[in-house]
Amino acid sequence: KSLKEYNTFGIESAARKFVSVKTVSELQEVLRKFRNEPKFILGGGSNMLLKNNIDSLVIHIALMGVEVISEDRDHVYITAMGGENWHEFVLYCVESNYGGIENLSLIPGNVGTAPIQNIGAYGVELKDVFERCTAVRIKDGTECTFNKSDCKFGYRDSVFKTEKKGEFIITSVTFKLTKRNHLKHTSYGAIDDILKERGIEAPSIKDISEAVIAIRQSKLPDPKELGNSGSFFKNPVISNDAFREFRVHFPDAPFYDVSPTEFKIPAGWLIEQAGFKGKRFGDAGVHKNQALVLVNYGNATGADIWKLALKIQKEVKEKFGIYIEPEVNII
Ligand code: EPU
Repeated sequence: KSLKEYNTFGIESAARKFVSVKTVSELQEVLRKFRNEPKFILGGGSNMLLKNNIDSLVIHIALMGVEVISEDRDHVYITAMGGENWHEFVLYCVESNYGGIENLSLIPGNVGTAPIQNIGAYGVELKDVFERCTAVRIKDGTECTFNKSDCKFGYRDSVFKTEKKGEFIITSVTFKLTKRNHLKHTSYGAIDDILKERGIEAPSIKDISEAVIAIRQSKLPDPKELGNSGSFFKNPVISNDAFREFRVHFPDAPFYDVSPTEFKIPAGWLIEQAGFKGKRFGDAGVHKNQALVLVNYGNATGADIWKLALKIQKEVKEKFGIYIEPEVNII
């Protein structure tokens, strides 16, 4: 079966066997039945680069449903199944006046894959609103619960990418959202500017969501029009010493403090300075408005994109002495 429609890069890749599961018990049954076969778990397909065909059983997670579990005066606990589209879930919460994830509007992918890389944007990370998740063990189909501390969230990181990589499928996520006194994160430069432009002084969570959508649409390509996987690289974190040396040569570079001894440099800036922004190599390219995003102009193969990624990585390393690491999973 072709996976072209199942990955936001729009890359042609064939699965040897494909099954889509709609309930947790169906998923458990498939895991038990094919216990000894290699498996590939497919969620929203928004954070991967398919370099090859998939010579294993592809299990597509199509678990759907959203439910308010409990609420009090200030908060609501809401559970979404892993196959729900992330942005549609955000819109549902914004419409219901449940606050906390409006800054994460328009991030591609599904609810079940969001915790794996602790998705984040415009001053908010998934971990800020995460209560717990349920997951099934791929090996034997048993179900278990992870609370926030179990997940060991970090910048674009969690236990599902490290110690427990490839062991679990997240089936549902429960969020703790606000019903009133929403914490509004608008200080991330561009959000404030848009709100000002629109004459909004006391923004609602819907205003913030709409501002984030406007920023993302102006910078990031829509995967339906131009295949991509969001940020292809992570922003590199470098030590004090490396940063001091870097600043001597590049005093104008933007940076963020991560800790008293670490600094984060926007990879988009490094890639742009290395001359790649807007460049195209056959059907593989670097987006014109955000150098951190690699794009597929139509018929790029996974190998074409990967070749470009390696070239960027090499030239950034040569120019700045900084190694940039892919954020997407290379399959
Ligand atoms: N920059 C450039 N050239 C570019 C892109 C960026 O010089 O082509 C510079 C900008 O001038 C700015 C800085 O880099 O000073 C930061 O840019 P931006 O605000 O666009 O954010 P980012 O660091 O490039 C990160 C996330 C995004 C997220 C934004 C907003 C990572 C890897 N990426 O990008 O996440 O939307 O912040 O919070 O942390 C994603 O993960 O797929 C993603 C899009």
